[in-house]
Amino acid sequence: MENMLHLAPCRASVPDCFIVPPEQLPPAASVAAVSLPVVDLSGSHDEVCRAILDAGKEFGFFQVVNHGVSEQVMRDMEAVCDEFFELPAEDKAHLYSEDRQKPNRLFSGTTYETGGQKYWMDCLRLAFTFPVGDSTSEWPENPERLREIFEKFGVLTRGVGMELLQLLCEAMGLRPDHFDGGLSSGDAILSVNHYPQCPNPSMTLGLPPHCDRNLITLVHTGPVHGLEVLYNGDWIKVEPMPNAFVVNFGLQLEVVTNGILKSVEHRVMTNSMLARTSRAVFIQPKEDCLVGPADEFLSEDNPPSYRTVTFGDFRRTHSIVKLKSSLNLTTNLKNIQMKDI
Ligand code: OGA
Ligand code: NI
Repeated sequence: MENMLHLAPCRASVPDCFIVPPEQLPPAASVAAVSLPVVDLSGSHDEVCRAILDAGKEFGFFQVVNHGVSEQVMRDMEAVCDEFFELPAEDKAHLYSEDRQKPNRLFSGTTYETGGQKYWMDCLRLAFTFPVGDSTSEWPENPERLREIFEKFGVLTRGVGMELLQLLCEAMGLRPDHFDGGLSSGDAILSVNHYPQCPNPSMTLGLPPHCDRNLITLVHTGPVHGLEVLYNGDWIKVEPMPNAFVVNFGLQLEVVTNGILKSVEHRVMTNSMLARTSRAVFIQPKEDCLVGPADEFLSEDNPPSYRTVTFGDFRRTHSIVKLKSSLNLTTNLKNIQMKDI
């Protein structure tokens, strides 16, 4: 519990263990010339399909607006996340765990310590099934309205993700229900990432460059800058939009589409003035679901670029620590996935 940054007194400087060597921390492109595409889900069906596929192919990342999750749900979610991180330590101590197998836990990026480096983030990570049933019974009971609001946000946000997957199927010529089975029905994860104010943002990271290991991720970023996406060799800043979701493809979607859609590296910078909290919903396959390139994307000219393995095996061979520390992840994934073909 003493590893949690948000409970420690404000620091005047960053301890050495957080310092990232400057060559590993290229600054974001200074011009805001490139920004992530914004897809308006209230547009015509054909337009939306095309926009998602174009944005996905070009950036691997986009924002969606008019997605149907109400502003009230977004504001309630933001408020209850803030309330949670403001609770006194004794009300959260029972949730703290460094055991990665635990589905519901509070932990800190300070415990990743990859390559000797720690990350400036605390995280509340919760799992849920659908129907939700009693999967929330281990969720925090304090603040009192947390469970109700988290459940509503989690279920609705997952719904938007499923809708996006369906639209992607149509755009790519897959059956609309291609992702409805085991590929998306593993426990969903609701992750609240909290990045406290940091005295030295130019030498620290909230999250190192990484690709997400799951199928698709939706992030509600809140009003503070921090998320950056790799685009043509440059880091570009994601512009916070109060009611949008930032959507990105996980490695499983790259595998299923045989690389047509790419899982793109992203990182989180810290901020000296403001703490930042983001809320991410991860949709992922079942542990025993075999994930490999779909037949629709294979032909004599398009052999599989990835090996077919169960999601459970994939997770075991690609630990979060390895992933989050790897700067060359996609290549790394291909090398590992390609072997034995
Ligand atoms: C993640 C992630 C982005 C953010 O949790 O995998 O990339 O803005 N989060 O917190
Ligand atoms: Ni991520």
